[in-house]
Amino acid sequence: MESGPDSLFVTLLLLLHSSHSESERFEVLGPTDTILAVAGDDIILPCYLKPNISAEDMTVDWLNLDFKDGRVYRYQNRKIIREDQIPSYIGRTSLFEEELWRGNTSLKLSRVQGTDEGHYKCFIKAKSWDHDLIIQVLVKAVGSKPVVSIEGHREGGMGLLCESEGWHPEPELVWLNSKGVHLFAGPPEIHRDFKGFYTVKQHVIVQETDTNRFTCRVQQSQINEKMETEVHLPNDLTRKLDELKAEKEVLRMENEDFKKKFNFENLWNQNNDITKKLEELIRKLDDNKKGSNDNKKGSNVVEEDLIRNLEGPREGEGGCDSRPGILKSYLRRTGDTHFLGDKGSDG
Ligand SMILES: *[C@@H]1O[C@H](CO)[C@@H](O)[C@H](O)[C@H]1NC(C)=O
Ligand SMILES: *[C@@H]1O[C@H](CO)[C@@H](O)[C@H](O)[C@H]1NC(C)=O
Repeated sequence: MESGPDSLFVTLLLLLHSSHSESERFEVLGPTDTILAVAGDDIILPCYLKPNISAEDMTVDWLNLDFKDGRVYRYQNRKIIREDQIPSYIGRTSLFEEELWRGNTSLKLSRVQGTDEGHYKCFIKAKSWDHDLIIQVLVKAVGSKPVVSIEGHREGGMGLLCESEGWHPEPELVWLNSKGVHLFAGPPEIHRDFKGFYTVKQHVIVQETDTNRFTCRVQQSQINEKMETEVHLPNDLTRKLDELKAEKEVLRMENEDFKKKFNFENLWNQNNDITKKLEELIRKLDDNKKGSNDNKKGSNVVEEDLIRNLEGPREGEGGCDSRPGILKSYLRRTGDTHFLGDKGSDG
């Protein structure tokens, strides 16, 4: 077997190359347990290289895998790269730049909010090597003490509304009576704000009980938290609301009576009928006069018909003259004053 200078050179090259690759090799380490972050706090997501070589000339990417696009943070070519940063992280993330030389690539996240929950990837890339680590972050936010408002009588009971805000993860709301028995309530209304916090509210209709005490409980079992508010409905209040309801009913009935007594709509229709009848009779009268100027008798028949139709009292029958003005003016216009009953007129 020959071992010439050529093969020695190749061996040297291989050795050099592999030692170079070896120096680039690293592992990315961090916590294996889930990190529980309290909303509003500043937290550190630990991540570092082993061996503890410098990361100053590497690319450090922090991603939240629950977001399709964008990054939480990027450090590359010794600069912070702000392009493609997920908007909700703007102004809240940083690396410890003074720690990079010893392989510490932990991320600081300020003022934790609901949308920060997710699976984070710490990805470190050197020229010919890269490695990453995934950390799960849960965000915990205990919401406000529930606010209960009395909405008044509803379907034979008393309507109550309970509302609590600022929760993460999504909480559950339950209504209980004084014995701790769950009450059947309406569907929960859940709203998530732009920071990822939940507001929950729910209506319930309660029946009066001996104690008249009811509890609204908002709970989140994953974070083992609950908040509750007890409301005591004074008997007085139920009575007052009953009185108000009775008063309202009386007013409603009075209003109906009034409408019946003064049925304006009916009056208007009757009036319209009379006007129509009059117009028709006057037209007949006119036709009659045009057709037979000398047949005064025919015209009189129509006029008498007209008067009868209007049921006004005849002369000599007593009572006051209630014949409508439109008729009188017609009769004056035609000079047939003998029907008018006002003898002093222009006859
Ligand atoms: C790097 O790690 C070694 C042990 O693995 C330790 O002795 C040394 O202090 C560390 N260097 C820095 C800068 O943290
Ligand atoms: C990285 O730096 C941060 C901030 O100084 C520190 O809290 C953390 O313990 C460091 N991590 C490691 C692995 O040195």
